[in-house]
Amino acid sequence: MEIVVSGIRPTGNLHLGNYFGAIKSFLKMQEEYKCYFFIADWHSLTTHPKPEDIVQNVNTILAEYLACGVDPEKATLYIQSDVREVLELYLYLNMNAYLGELERTTSFKDKARKQPNNVNAGLLTYPCLMAADILLHKAAKVPVGKDQEQNMEMARKFARRFNTIYDCEFFPEPQSFFLGDKSVKVPGLDGSGKMGKSEGNALYLIDDEKTIRKKVMKAVTDSGPTEPNSEKPEAISNLFSFLEIVSTPDTYKYFDEQYNNCSIRYGDLKKQLAEDIVAFTNPIRERILDIRQDTEYLNRVAREGAERARESARKTVEAVREIVGFKSGR
Ligand code: ADP
Ligand code: TRP
Repeated sequence: MEIVVSGIRPTGNLHLGNYFGAIKSFLKMQEEYKCYFFIADWHSLTTHPKPEDIVQNVNTILAEYLACGVDPEKATLYIQSDVREVLELYLYLNMNAYLGELERTTSFKDKARKQPNNVNAGLLTYPCLMAADILLHKAAKVPVGKDQEQNMEMARKFARRFNTIYDCEFFPEPQSFFLGDKSVKVPGLDGSGKMGKSEGNALYLIDDEKTIRKKVMKAVTDSGPTEPNSEKPEAISNLFSFLEIVSTPDTYKYFDEQYNNCSIRYGDLKKQLAEDIVAFTNPIRERILDIRQDTEYLNRVAREGAERARESARKTVEAVREIVGFKSGR
């Protein structure tokens, strides 16, 4: 069975972008592949979180994964820092990664710009740690959003390079995976760009009804089309993208026709959209609230997941040690 790996950093609550860009694929893939889904807590250290926040942040994402339907009986769900083997693989990959190529990645340049006083070596070698996460289980497929494409290219490059240097066919080249025929980008409600935790434009799965209605009613619009069948400006097209994601095809068609014959009332569209988002997120939100309280269950899921992940990780790292030249047997 093909192996699937993906991770999310515990840097805040999950939002609709995370759900439709990543989690929705996880739910489908856990039925068909051998899946490892993890919480990338070591990755979150690049921004120096407070020690007392880390466990809380990890438990939040763990509860949210479970509430969305990631099933620990079907997929191995674990916390990255429970599987130390990844650090050894990270070291080997670091030895074959060049300063120039790491400095050239756009995510490094972006992050260095965002935190000029903390351009640490972990930020530079982020793609090596991400490649180690993936190669640790010799994954063939990685469900991620469009923004991870460059990191995925690096992972493929490091896999290829390892195989070439050691003249072996050890690591498969991991492919990005998205549902349908293209990757999803969930927009923000602020008129442009993508929904993101740090953009201040996110609709969170944990948001209550009132919050969601308020955020949706505040979404940017314009004064409406003046000519039939005119092209939709970005802010309006974003609202329609949302309808496409959470509403029925009939609802989409209804408002699309109204737009095209210039009779659209954005207030009505937003009301319907808020309704449909609430209907989608409410059951998830209730499950999050339940699961988050059950620390015993969360600990058990993490413990069992770590055991299974370690088993797979140990096999890979032992083989890699041999390939690199550290013969065991002492
Ligand atoms: P954020 O950008 O909000 O910090 P992460 O970087 O933790 O989110 O992303 C976790 C996963 O969710 C990744 O696979 C990423 O590609 C996906 N993702 C995040 N935001 C979006 C979005 N707006 N549309 C589609 N996918 C997204
Ligand atoms: N870099 C990813 C992000 O920012 C998170 C991540 C870390 C990841 N390791 C991974 C995703 C391995 C897929 C596979 O969203």
